[in-house]
Amino acid sequence: MADVKKLYIKTYGCQMNVYDSERMAEAMAGAGYVETQDPTEADMILLNTCHIREKAAEKVYSELGRLRGLKVEKPDLKIGVAGCVAQAEGEEIMRRQPLVDLVVGPQSYHRLPEMEARLREGGKAIDTDFPTEDKFDTLRHRPKSARGPTAFLTVQEGCDKFCAFCVVPYTRGAEVSRPPERVLEEARDLVERGVREITLLGQNVNAYHGAGLGEDWSLARLIWALNDIEGLARIRFTTSHPKDMSDDLIAAHGECPKLMPYLHLPVQSGSNRILKRMNRGHTAEDYLRLIERIRAARPDILLSGDFIVGFPEETEADFQDTLDLIATVGYGTAYSFKYSTRPGTPAAERIQIPEEVKSERLLRLQALISNQQRAAQEAMVGRKVSVLFEKPGRLSGQIVGKSDYLHAVHVTSPTLKPGDLAQVEVLSSGANSLSGRIFAA
Ligand code: SAH
Ligand code: SF4
Ligand code: F3S
Repeated sequence: MADVKKLYIKTYGCQMNVYDSERMAEAMAGAGYVETQDPTEADMILLNTCHIREKAAEKVYSELGRLRGLKVEKPDLKIGVAGCVAQAEGEEIMRRQPLVDLVVGPQSYHRLPEMEARLREGGKAIDTDFPTEDKFDTLRHRPKSARGPTAFLTVQEGCDKFCAFCVVPYTRGAEVSRPPERVLEEARDLVERGVREITLLGQNVNAYHGAGLGEDWSLARLIWALNDIEGLARIRFTTSHPKDMSDDLIAAHGECPKLMPYLHLPVQSGSNRILKRMNRGHTAEDYLRLIERIRAARPDILLSGDFIVGFPEETEADFQDTLDLIATVGYGTAYSFKYSTRPGTPAAERIQIPEEVKSERLLRLQALISNQQRAAQEAMVGRKVSVLFEKPGRLSGQIVGKSDYLHAVHVTSPTLKPGDLAQVEVLSSGANSLSGRIFAA
């Protein structure tokens, strides 16, 4: 077909961007575009960007620099910037980077086809509105089969928490939940197309409150409804805020068969003084009590978290409180970051911690986390876990999947294929994964 055009999307940042990139590809399928993995053959390149830390935002500008050559070779190539950098700095990008033809914020993806039409007429297009219509309602060009046995499904977007360090409330806007019937419809559709595990996404996913059938649905209620979908084997959700960890959600972790024993629950710091300055709305003790209740409901749950070191005014004693909290909780894994100044956020105006202090604290924190991670992985050796296989491994005959606890697990098997769920006996623990053998298929 002569008029099939090719779209290359490069995705940065969080899982919600991964989800959004898929939806953008579907929106553009309606405008005659097929996706390519090769930027050199693309008619349009979209960078789906992240603004969370300075480094994330800088990547966009260096990528645009690299794309200049392609655009010189192929003047018809259209280059677009989507995502959180587009929302935060879209107009500036347009001004500073003449090669950018299109800027689209996270709430306007459904308008991409009309924007593309404007480009074909020789113009440029920018849309960083927060429209009231549901962008997902208009995105209906779904491929016949899903991309694999696992999928993300956005149920909630935006954030009203305004942590003092964070850009998300500005780039994603106010908290909005999708109606439960839409979510369930999309989940059934995914399962029909071969998906066996769904991860519900939201910047504050546990604050979900969808209006359905005249009632207010909590995330727990939504999870129980998903639990009834035949063919769906596993449910996960991310990311949660400690303040929204409701009783029914904690109970679901103990009772809902398809809800997996893994919870990502960021705390950011173990110091009450810093938590207050971060505007987190909870203390370290609140968090520890919450962890106790979650473990009472589901003793084997694997916990993960996010930590920021070197937040303005963080002293060595504050940092020590964070290490103590980590030691008390015992994480299966965790993400940690040096505080990065974000223009426009309250903490950007405060007295900053020197870079070398941040680096040194990060090293100490990461050493503690990696010991905990190693211990958690080694505790799996000899146990039987269920694994959902996703893709071939690096070695021939190997296949890789995820356990209930989200550990990567390798198995050598000539018969297993992506989408299979099997019982695996864990034989050993490596740097970032486990290996095992099939116990019973
Ligand atoms: N909505 C989620 C995730 C937000 S971004 C939540 O509330 O947990 C993911 C993580 O990035 C945050 O949990 C935080 O640890 C980190 N982060 C956010 N802003 C940051 C900043 N300015 N500097 C360093 N890390 C930051
Ligand atoms: Fe950012 Fe805080 Fe909202 Fe998470 S809860 S997205 S860290 S403002
Ligand atoms: Fe980044 Fe936006 Fe996600 S800032 S972390 S892409 S919500």
